[in-house]
Amino acid sequence: MSAEGLQDSAADPGVRLLAAAVRDLDPHDLLLVHSGPLPGLRPGATRLILDVREREDAAGTTCVPASRGPALPRDDFAAAVVWPRAHLGKDFSEVCLALGAAALRPGGRLYCAVRKAKGGPSLARAMTELCGVVEVQERDSGYFLYVSEKTASYSAEAARARLTREYEIADPLLGPVPLLAAPGVFCRKHLDDGTRALLAELEALDVLGDRSPRQILDLGAGIGPLGLWATRRWPDARLVAVESNYLAAALVAENAARLGCGPRVEVLVADGLPASGPGTGTGSARGRVDLALVNPPTHAEPEAFARLVAPLRHWLRPGAPAWFVVNRAGRLAQVLAHTGAELDLREVPGFTLVRATWPQGHANMSEKPA
Ligand SMILES: C[S@@+](CC[C@H](N)C(=O)[O-])C[C@H]1O[C@@H](n2cnc3c(N)ncnc32)[C@H](O)[C@@H]1O
Repeated sequence: MSAEGLQDSAADPGVRLLAAAVRDLDPHDLLLVHSGPLPGLRPGATRLILDVREREDAAGTTCVPASRGPALPRDDFAAAVVWPRAHLGKDFSEVCLALGAAALRPGGRLYCAVRKAKGGPSLARAMTELCGVVEVQERDSGYFLYVSEKTASYSAEAARARLTREYEIADPLLGPVPLLAAPGVFCRKHLDDGTRALLAELEALDVLGDRSPRQILDLGAGIGPLGLWATRRWPDARLVAVESNYLAAALVAENAARLGCGPRVEVLVADGLPASGPGTGTGSARGRVDLALVNPPTHAEPEAFARLVAPLRHWLRPGAPAWFVVNRAGRLAQVLAHTGAELDLREVPGFTLVRATWPQGHANMSEKPA
């Protein structure tokens, strides 16, 4: 399963510009800042990754997962490369530029290839603030290759301002303590409309009657709004939050601590639900989940989407519900029906809420996409 925004990046003109700019460098002197692999890259480069799935195409590079707080592997690189992933937002692109600039040795070069029409001038301004000066080194198919050199003009303050940027998401549905978010995660500045629609419905409904769930699962947890809502609603319940984005997963743990439910929350940084063996914390939740809450990544490839959703039934007790929120239920309903789920679809403004249950005896049906 590949990580969003990096599929087919090798064909991108900006990636080609970056690859050509650093081709002759010793790869051990090169830092790829959340940019994916570069075509023709020789083994030895260091690569910051945001998502566990990026490890799949990382052969020959040393992967350093994104983390909260200062986490630079070194500060003596000769070059740092930034290929902005538009769907993650300008604030995350600026974080990448700041990480890259901070990781350079004096005289090192910061490269960024971006379409002029897609925010190039604004990122060039950020490079100027960080390094004092920026130049356009190449142009290709509407892309500009910007380069800055780290000189005495480098501003550690400008880097710190970007690296410490965070947001608080306050919403009546979340209770009195806002959730902490940061650049690089899903819906970082406000509660997602779909998440809000599902929470509003769950609040209004008597979701589980008079039974309190003991074990809750949040699949694709983001920074945790669904699962952490549930830990507030059922103060004795435990939560497993599964998330592939390292930053988001770290924020679920931070948010759980802020809400005072840290000891009841287990965060798993993983590509979907693991087939955990016995004895591990998550292994003990498999087959014992009383309630699953899912706002799935609907832009995922169909096969990846099915691989993410289909194993849910192995984690739920027979008859226990999984609640989903989607814009359109077609693909989800097809995958779930193929696993033997019984479905209840509710239309709310802008979204469909899907409640799936698996009666006993459906655990062995195919998980292949329909
Ligand atoms: C639509 S967002 C929902 C986030 C959160 N539940 C919310 O309601 O705000 C989907 C989340 O699923 C995560 N995700 C996507 N593919 C995943 C996978 N294969 N395994 C685990 N998490 C995944 C994404 O990183 C993203 O945070």
